[in-house]
Amino acid sequence: MSHPIPSPASTSEPRPLAAWRALALDLPRHHPELVAGRDGVFAEALAGLPAIGDADLRGLSDAELRLAGLDVLMVEAVVRRHGLPRSESTLDASASVVAERLGLQPIISYPLYIRENPVDLAEMRRFTAYEAEFRFIRMHAAIEDLFDQTIASLEAIIDSDAPRMALREHFAGLSAGLRSANRIMSGFRSPVRMPHADFFDGFRPYYDALRDRDSGELILDGPSGLQSYTYRIVAMQLGYRDPVLDGWTERIGRYHPPDLRDRLDRVLRARNAGRNLDARVCEPILGGQARLPHLHPDYGRHLPSILRIAEGRGYLRPEVRGLIEGFGLRLGEWPARMSSNDEVPEIEVPAGIGSAEMADLSLLAELEAALVAMHLEHVATAAVQIGAEHGTGGTSGVEFLLVATFRRAFPALWQSGIGARIAAEA
Ligand code: HEM
Repeated sequence: MSHPIPSPASTSEPRPLAAWRALALDLPRHHPELVAGRDGVFAEALAGLPAIGDADLRGLSDAELRLAGLDVLMVEAVVRRHGLPRSESTLDASASVVAERLGLQPIISYPLYIRENPVDLAEMRRFTAYEAEFRFIRMHAAIEDLFDQTIASLEAIIDSDAPRMALREHFAGLSAGLRSANRIMSGFRSPVRMPHADFFDGFRPYYDALRDRDSGELILDGPSGLQSYTYRIVAMQLGYRDPVLDGWTERIGRYHPPDLRDRLDRVLRARNAGRNLDARVCEPILGGQARLPHLHPDYGRHLPSILRIAEGRGYLRPEVRGLIEGFGLRLGEWPARMSSNDEVPEIEVPAGIGSAEMADLSLLAELEAALVAMHLEHVATAAVQIGAEHGTGGTSGVEFLLVATFRRAFPALWQSGIGARIAAEA
């Protein structure tokens, strides 16, 4: 199914930028010809593009600059995907000029394609005319907006002098936002809203990584949800803290402009200094437990309780478990190829936990369940849409995503058995 394709916008920008924008907006029109191997019309349009120089970017606002980056780097992705001859003096030079000004790598990234892309149909940059691509961008952007709200609520709780009271105040908003994000995520595996062939053979090939043409060695990662900075902020604010997560946060940094890189760094340092929901709410209630790891193979055994809460409270679609198992994946089973560390201790339930404490711990259990449900919705979606393929962001794909179900924001809640008690009463 395809959308009407907008005509190239008329614009009063400097000529080089306007010319790149016109071609970027015209990519859906070129797509059928390019996949049929008839690249003459596109090659002619490409050859007519002027090189962008520093002077052309002078005086632009940050938003305009990022839009120019989106235009140029989408055209670059099309040239690369179709193996077309590339001009060093025009394509490569323009890509490096805009990327350098943005402080980014010269490859299309998730922050540009999802967050900077206008959601209005006439202005949205797309590789294809498939409605599914239009929805892919809009639905992703909608989840990103929900994550923005989640970040604001979490910030208000962890910055508060009375974080338990603030948690109660903000819980309804947090829960509604996460429920909506999960519901939207499930839409990405709908054969009607996101037909597999349109996604997998249509626009996903434009998200490929940049590889050395001779050796095939990876040079730059392709765009991927892995590069979502909002998700990483939510994860860190809740309390996720492990070398796997932090390693990827560092790796994706270069795909974000310097201001966002700084923001991620600030959130990471704040988390390490105790500005997170685990340290502000969970640990004070459950006492001075030995610090538990946040990612551990044993945590697979918490899943039945977590799933009970997630399904019971509407964060997880009922078909997800079956879909995951139908793909030969076993929930709670740590991937055999991955190393596992030592045993993790059980912990005692401290004395003095009353009904007020239990009520607050129930809210934390529900937030944890909402987050694990997001990971499971995601695993199911990726299994349906990419199967055993590697991710475009540089990971093993579905297996990598499954690891997130072994991550806990509030490990003491589950290791103490309180999470299971809350689930049993849910
Ligand atoms: C067709 C839909 C989707 C597919 C096939 C898919 C696939 C993947 C894959 C394979 C990865 C692993 C990283 C990589 O190598 O690329 C990943 C990571 C990620 N994706 Fe998606 N994804 C989809 C939709 C979404 C949506 C709608 C979001 C919402 C923002 C999202 C957010 C993320 C995040 C946050 C990560 C990093 C997860 C982590 O670090 O544990 N994805 N995705």
